Amino acid sequence: MSDHELRVSKIRNGTVIDHIRAGQALNVLAILGIDGTDGEAVSVGMNVPSDRMGQKDIVKVEGKELSQNEVDVLSLIAPDASINIIREYEVAEKHRLVRPEEVVGILSCPNSNCITTKDEPVESKFEVLADGVRCEYCDTIIRTDLAAHISVK
Ligand code: CTP
Ligand code: ZN
Repeated sequence: MSDHELRVSKIRNGTVIDHIRAGQALNVLAILGIDGTDGEAVSVGMNVPSDRMGQKDIVKVEGKELSQNEVDVLSLIAPDASINIIREYEVAEKHRLVRPEEVVGILSCPNSNCITTKDEPVESKFEVLADGVRCEYCDTIIRTDLAAHISVK
């Protein structure tokens, strides 16, 4: 890659979420609960040119490791993304996302009578369907715009 094309600088230690579908970077940040207030360095590229995807988004976070729950919800919103763990400037691990069977936490149930939306210590849990997710407590199905159901941490 030439200097011309390098839009977002390399990081030393942290996570690079690459090949995010164009337009989804801010949803990725929401899933990760990143709003800039924790002081970690975050770089976001939107609609950057990609050989494979035409355009893509990319998110780089210094010093952040993703939990399995975060990776699971990410895989629903950004199924083509790859997760690169960077150590001392080198790509130490590269993971493709795999669609999970269920996602715990992160998404909130749209049913206001659902036990998970009451003041109970019950984490949300959704079964992943071919075309959406189903609340395992009240059977409510979310089919479109999962990103709108990310609970802000
Ligand atoms: N990266 C980074 N900081 C580093 C090393 C890599 O920000 N110190 C970024 C690269 O810019 C790239 C991603 O991490 O966006 C993956 O790096 P690499 O595997 O070297 O790039 P590619 O081979 O292009 O990745 P892929 O095969 O997944 O397209
Ligand atoms: Zn529910």
